[in-house]
Amino acid sequence: MPRGRLIALEGGEGAGKSTQARLLADFLCEQGFPVVRTREPGGAPGAEFLRGVLLSGQIDWCVEAETMLHVAARVEHVAKTIRPAIEAGSWVVCDRFHDSTMAYQGFGLGFDRDRIAVLGGMIGIVPDLTLVLDVPRDVAVRRLRARGGADDRYERLNEEFHARVNAGFRQIAAWPGHVRIDASLEVEAVRTAIAAAVQDLVRSARGP
Ligand SMILES: Nc1ncnc2c1ncn2[C@@H]1O[C@H](COP(=O)(O)OP(=O)(O)OP(=O)(O)O)[C@@H](O)[C@H]1O
Ligand SMILES: [Mg+2]
Repeated sequence: MPRGRLIALEGGEGAGKSTQARLLADFLCEQGFPVVRTREPGGAPGAEFLRGVLLSGQIDWCVEAETMLHVAARVEHVAKTIRPAIEAGSWVVCDRFHDSTMAYQGFGLGFDRDRIAVLGGMIGIVPDLTLVLDVPRDVAVRRLRARGGADDRYERLNEEFHARVNAGFRQIAAWPGHVRIDASLEVEAVRTAIAAAVQDLVRSARGP
């Protein structure tokens, strides 16, 4: 059984991650791969429980505890969902992963980024490819208003916070294993850019 792959979609709120995660999962299915689509925080029962704890905003966590809770949820997600799927040969499409902790708790809330990187080492898995969906904040806000629904803990934070998160994601997009995607384009154009970005991974999985 060949090992599967892990592809993460990252970016700020309203960038289109969930929309494109669905389209990417469909694309990979069409390419003949078994696909598991999942999300963070969450993706396993214990991690979904922590999602509620983290996103409700009921508790004003200190940033160290908040970071570790995100990492704990991720460790559970990897152990219960991601690693078993990859070992069974599935391609895992993950809506947010460790870069979100770096962007939100690190760049956004000021927690030491070297320490976040150390915590990231405990997760024991690195995505084969991370797609960073980049969209100007004003475009994202318009999309979120049109989508409706209640704001979570991070959506309620101020615009300076979101500017730091977006700037952080732009730095992260230049790191190895990452591709920046212009997510301000229409859905179909973003889908096409993402399909192109995963082509090398698809080819390498097929072999010569
Ligand atoms: N390229 C696009 N152009 C216009 N609207 C879009 C585009 N992509 C997504 N949308 C719409 O914008 C809204 C936000 O998209 P989506 O929920 O996929 O973003 P997200 O990154 O998952 O957000 P969140 O971080 O809040 O989960 C949705 O209503 C979606 O239909
Ligand atoms: Mg989403």
